[in-house]
Amino acid sequence: MCGIVGYVGAKPALDVVVEGLARLEYRGYDSAGVAVLADGKLATAKRAGKLGNLRAALEEEPPPAGTLGMGHTRWATHGPPNDRNAHPHVDCTGSVAVIHNGIIENFAELRAELEEAGHGLASDTDTEAVAHLLEDELKAGGGLAEALRRVCRRLEGAFTLVAVHTGDPDVVVGARRNSPLVVGVGDGENFLASDVSAFIAHTRDAIELGQDQVVELRAGGVQVTDFEGRPAEVQEYHVDWDVSAAEKGGYDYFMLKEIAEQPRAVADTLLGRIGSDGRLRLDEMRMSDRELREVDKIIVVACGTSYHAGLIAKYAIEHWAGLPCEVELASEFRYRDSILSPTTLVIAISQSGETMDALMAVRHAREQKAKLLGICNVNGSTLPRECDGVLYTHAGPEIAVASTKAFLTQLVAVYLIALYIAQVRGTKWGDEVFAMVQLLERMPEKVEKVLETMEPVRELARSLAGERCVLFLGRHVGFPVALEGALKLKELAYMHAEGFAAGELKHGPIALIEKDLPVVVVVPPRARAVLHDKIVSNIQEIRARGARTIVIAEEGDESVGPYADTLISVPAVPTLLQPLVTTVPLQVFACELATAKGHDVDQPRNLAKSVTVE
Ligand code: M6R
Repeated sequence: MCGIVGYVGAKPALDVVVEGLARLEYRGYDSAGVAVLADGKLATAKRAGKLGNLRAALEEEPPPAGTLGMGHTRWATHGPPNDRNAHPHVDCTGSVAVIHNGIIENFAELRAELEEAGHGLASDTDTEAVAHLLEDELKAGGGLAEALRRVCRRLEGAFTLVAVHTGDPDVVVGARRNSPLVVGVGDGENFLASDVSAFIAHTRDAIELGQDQVVELRAGGVQVTDFEGRPAEVQEYHVDWDVSAAEKGGYDYFMLKEIAEQPRAVADTLLGRIGSDGRLRLDEMRMSDRELREVDKIIVVACGTSYHAGLIAKYAIEHWAGLPCEVELASEFRYRDSILSPTTLVIAISQSGETMDALMAVRHAREQKAKLLGICNVNGSTLPRECDGVLYTHAGPEIAVASTKAFLTQLVAVYLIALYIAQVRGTKWGDEVFAMVQLLERMPEKVEKVLETMEPVRELARSLAGERCVLFLGRHVGFPVALEGALKLKELAYMHAEGFAAGELKHGPIALIEKDLPVVVVVPPRARAVLHDKIVSNIQEIRARGARTIVIAEEGDESVGPYADTLISVPAVPTLLQPLVTTVPLQVFACELATAKGHDVDQPRNLAKSVTVE
């Protein structure tokens, strides 16, 4: 939830750290703070609110220049978002500073123990306890890294911690458990961050830290151990995108850029997965044909937008692969007695690969010996490491809090998986799979076409900025699209927005319809005549009750025109692939409506990009 940066090298640490925080602000923006070591002294600065407030404070009162430092951008868990609770937190002597992402679950007990021992705690946070524990452990000797290892052994919960100490002026020390932390390896300088975008302007060489590891970062090198101090094996990797991918590139918001990048993201996610003979190659799933044939049930677990991709996966998997498929909110999955076995394949979908609920669901499935496949966008994140296989979506960095290009690429990934299973299990003829793969390959151009026709959608969105509520209806794969449209509007425009399965309308939701209420309806292709005609009836029913109908239908669908106050046409594609084109207008709609209301669409209130706490 929070963003973390650490630096040691030859450059002014404050500049590197603040630049890194700017790239990580999407992770949390309740407050920001920095700590720099200069001339053996620790200087800290922190401010509630967005990074701009901290920048202003630093300009007014610049800290002494140093070449070692760290910074934090916060999404509040313990204690309100004010200056006092902003990180870094320091110990009683002011010589140790700590920043933290996650939740220390036994902090109340640690805090009581510290207070009894005479420590004065100045904030409401769980983090501050760590600074004081370090103070005590440093007295026992062994230096900052050893002190942090000892402290970590006492902590429960999820944490990334980074600490600096005036007594160890050449080292930044970090620790991770269930929360992300990556190392950037530079030349005479090294970096620590919650994700690579923080240091991508300086280096594309990174080290993935494992669970329960402590890293010592010096200008000349990096040392990693486990919490007991034993040297740990680490995995190095090269980041395959550069700094331009993490910048706005002329757009007002990252979200606008990411919506526009979707044709490329879809194309990149298909790349290298279709052989010259038209057969799918998904070695990344790390499942032999025999294992895939043994699978008798698939369970998809995910949260938020990724969950909506999971709902669409169910239609694709059941239709193409002929396997029963359940879709479960990751946060509910492990608290239910789900029936899993070694022949169950659990697919966990997560853009960030750090969503705690998704990670916990994966661990729960692992305990029950199910096979695990991840769909993830972030290389080096935790989820891929905990799964047997992973299909990376090649969306590139998604920085806006609202997920857009990640969703479309997750859909591509689930289509590929469903078709691949069909290919291996022979549930569809080879030429049927091939024909669908060819249609998939044409989707980037279809998405591009949608993007070219979005001006009327933007106009419509602006005209609805004064509304209090918008409903979304869909059937079949249009139902998860309706849910996704509603979620985008909620999180960006802070409006009451709800998605319904159109068939459920008469079982209750129709009571919500009143004069001029905007209702967005996603219409299935005409080729699905029964579904199509039923939803056209639904449109008539709501219009008869005064709703303002906004209809998304395929080009050339004349039957909906008479009942649509606004008609948004999208290219005609097969039903299962339709979410790739029908979701895009809903993203544009939410983004424009929120902008018209004056909201910051990249950083909606109360939210953060990755939800790394349960
Ligand atoms: O990183 P993940 O895909 O696991 O994130 C899951 C949700 O938190 C995420 O999709 C969230 O719902 C988005 N902000 C929606 O736009």
